[in-house]
Amino acid sequence: MTAPPELRDTTVLAINPMQPDSSLIEQAAAILRHGGLVAFPTETVYGLGADATDENAVDRIFVAKGRPSTDPIIVHIAALNQLEQVALDIPQLAYQLAERFWAGALTMILKRAPTIPPNVSATLPTVAVRMPSHPVAHALIAAAGTPVAAPSANTFSRPSATTTQHVLDDLSGRINMILDGGSTPIGVESTVLDLTGQVPVVLRPGGVSLEALREIIPDLQLKSKYLGTDTLAVSPGQLIKHYSPRAEMCLYADEHAGNAMIAAAYERLAHGQRVGVLLLNSETTLWQSLNVILEALGDTLEEAAARLFAALRSLDSQGVDVIFAHGYERDGLGAAIWDRLVRAAEGRVIV
Ligand code: TXA
Ligand code: MG
Repeated sequence: MTAPPELRDTTVLAINPMQPDSSLIEQAAAILRHGGLVAFPTETVYGLGADATDENAVDRIFVAKGRPSTDPIIVHIAALNQLEQVALDIPQLAYQLAERFWAGALTMILKRAPTIPPNVSATLPTVAVRMPSHPVAHALIAAAGTPVAAPSANTFSRPSATTTQHVLDDLSGRINMILDGGSTPIGVESTVLDLTGQVPVVLRPGGVSLEALREIIPDLQLKSKYLGTDTLAVSPGQLIKHYSPRAEMCLYADEHAGNAMIAAAYERLAHGQRVGVLLLNSETTLWQSLNVILEALGDTLEEAAARLFAALRSLDSQGVDVIFAHGYERDGLGAAIWDRLVRAAEGRVIV
């Protein structure tokens, strides 16, 4: 393997997200083939890509993100025939799920093939695989001619990046290139489904809903500290810090917690704190008379998912001391949103 391109600055190439220019894609693909790092838009969040078959390139991802080597990375493919290149003993169910949900926001955990070096999977015998639908991601992986290992393109434990500016804020000067295809449409990461155990288990709710998965897997299990009633029994110290804003999060479980939140916000303001609030458009009038920074997430769960990480980052950059937020419905994308909110709050939920 030749030496990776020298890392001086991060090149940003603006690219049409619907019809990506093939000469721009080729520039990015060449960097991947030489062991470099390229951030690119997917339909969920921006990914930070490296050649998944190149152990040294994958190591560079961990370094750039400050990610512990114990946290495994998803391998992205452009065509179904690449699945056999990265995974072994693929069950029939995986093909059924691929037929229904690929290309798209579903990641499947399978047995790892020897072409994928152990550091991709933090030495686990398994590999997480996803075929993204975003035209830029698809074109890049196809042009690279290799599966692409890509975690979310953020510094470890920060909210995932949904715009090029977010990627630059975290990784400028640490990666070779960003393909700027604008905002990522879904805004939360893929659903991670483990197919290597006795029963299929969702490890992370995401862009494909649990309800949709249950149509194919009626006995689907969910392994989440965050979605059951046991959420509140978990001590924050046991939780991984993830998706965290720098500010303290005050997360209310009840979607009708508006009045309690306003009372608590008054108290913070009286103590001279800067207060940020995450809410739906319909809730903004309640808060208008308070001297708080409002981040309206839109009218629907789809809009809220798309704006969530940008809103957390925006409040952080405005230097708020505390962020107030509450839960929404837990159906559909609501499960993924609630999971991200609880993680941002490091497991502390107010009932
Ligand atoms: O939507 C997404 O999934 C984005 C885009 C870029 O594809 N990627 C993403 O990657 O969110 P990352 O690294 O931020 O999250 C990957 C998740 C982690 O929770 C990781 O622990 C889990 O997938 N994972 C990866 N490989 C695994 C494996 N072999 N076994 C269990 N979990 C795995
Ligand atoms: Mg991530």
